[in-house]
Amino acid sequence: MVDTKYYNLQTVFDAEGGPGVFGKHATQLMAMHRRISRIKAPVVLECGVDKGWSAGVLAHAVERNGGSLISLDIRDCSDAIESECWTFLQIDDTEQERILQEAPILKEGIDFIFIDSLHFARHVRRLLELWYPLVRQGGWIAFHDVDPGPYMRGQRKDYVENEIVWRSIWQVVLDFFYANEDDLLLEYHLGDMGLAIMQKLAPMSQAPNPPRRIPPRRVSLRSLARHLLRR
Ligand SMILES: C[S@@+](CC[C@H](N)C(=O)[O-])C[C@H]1O[C@@H](n2cnc3c(N)ncnc32)[C@H](O)[C@@H]1O
Repeated sequence: MVDTKYYNLQTVFDAEGGPGVFGKHATQLMAMHRRISRIKAPVVLECGVDKGWSAGVLAHAVERNGGSLISLDIRDCSDAIESECWTFLQIDDTEQERILQEAPILKEGIDFIFIDSLHFARHVRRLLELWYPLVRQGGWIAFHDVDPGPYMRGQRKDYVENEIVWRSIWQVVLDFFYANEDDLLLEYHLGDMGLAIMQKLAPMSQAPNPPRRIPPRRVSLRSLARHLLRR
């Protein structure tokens, strides 16, 4: 049985599909829960634990199916939850070699990764580079904090720095997706902090293409003239 220290797990189950920011948060957590619940003996890696909101929900799905959840945080979050399927490692999530030594089960293949640690595009790009190759065919990578909307001007959390960072994290996901589109599915949940869920269709052994930025087209005098002539 999963035990959570800072919140009651039932509040998340009850709020799924409900209104408000918490409803969105719960719905996004449960979108991960549902996927993991369909896997037999899932191996799940979580980057970023803090108060254990995601850890509790992920552990609930993992425990039911006899799997393992490995959670990483640079701070000591070892008391955030209790569960027989849970291993907590206090470590930087880019220290892959040490993590694989401590949790060798990850080397055999990961079914689900949740990325919610350091909110910088560079860090998320590095995590993708490091961990994507270990994701099994049909497995998932979920990225938290990809919707800049709440931080935009006049919005609920109006804060320019985070607006820019959140947008850049979403851009990292897009750059990776467009470089490997044939081998991926991608879903995007707007609201709360935003959640993107990517599914890997390629075999585990297949190396991904490096991320590719497609330069956006802007309105130019020529495109404006073409548009006006077409009307
Ligand atoms: C947003 S919180 C995680 C929230 C958590 N997933 C939840 O749903 O409650 C981000 C966490 O990432 C941790 N963190 C920051 N940089 C990290 C890194 N390089 N490696 C591992 N954890 C890191 C922080 O200590 C913090 O606890």
